[in-house]
Amino acid sequence: VTIRAARSGDAASLSSLLRGLEMFARLREEPAETTADRVGRHLDMCLRDESHSVLVAERVEGDLVGYVSVHWLPYLFFSGPEGFVSELFIEACHRGRGLGSRLLDAVVVEARGRGCRRLSLAAVKDRESYLRRFYPERGWRERADMALMMYDL
Ligand SMILES: CC(C)(COP(=O)(O)OP(=O)(O)OC[C@H]1O[C@@H](n2cnc3c(N)ncnc32)[C@H](O)[C@@H]1OP(=O)(O)O)[C@@H](O)C(=O)NCCC(=O)NCCS
Repeated sequence: VTIRAARSGDAASLSSLLRGLEMFARLREEPAETTADRVGRHLDMCLRDESHSVLVAERVEGDLVGYVSVHWLPYLFFSGPEGFVSELFIEACHRGRGLGSRLLDAVVVEARGRGCRRLSLAAVKDRESYLRRFYPERGWRERADMALMMYDL
């Protein structure tokens, strides 16, 4: 399995990967074309400038079995950007083989190369990855001094 930067042509593959996860009710309720169209548009936005990185895990057979998205946030008061990992998914039948770790390692390497100050992400507390301590096992720490705030629109 190769880890590489996503390309525009990966949209269809990423869209079916996402739908196949069966993690999001919203995706189940919309037609496949709607998902594919959105993934294509959002992926293009990510590829358009250097503020975003999308890395994919590609099998030799050519299919994509996972991806990670990072958004590089230029805080005015930090010496370097902060990378926010918004999505990290591995197809269910390919989990537990080190691919999630490899994608995350690649993000850390890129973050260092960009002179980042730190990386962050939001982990859903009842997900298996959180319960298995996937992130702490890889050097991430849970912040006790901050609350994750949301404003629904
Ligand atoms: C979290 C996730 C990205 C990890 O990817 P992965 O390729 O399974 O990760 P790895 O194989 O590198 O490591 C998984 C760990 O769980 C263990 N594991 C074993 N079987 C597993 C399985 N079936 N599923 C998940 N993890 C498994 C691995 O041995 C490893 O343990 P370790 O921490 O002691 O090394 C992946 O499980 C996933 O997509 N989960 C659903 C979506 C999700 O929760 N994403 C995170 C968003 S915050």
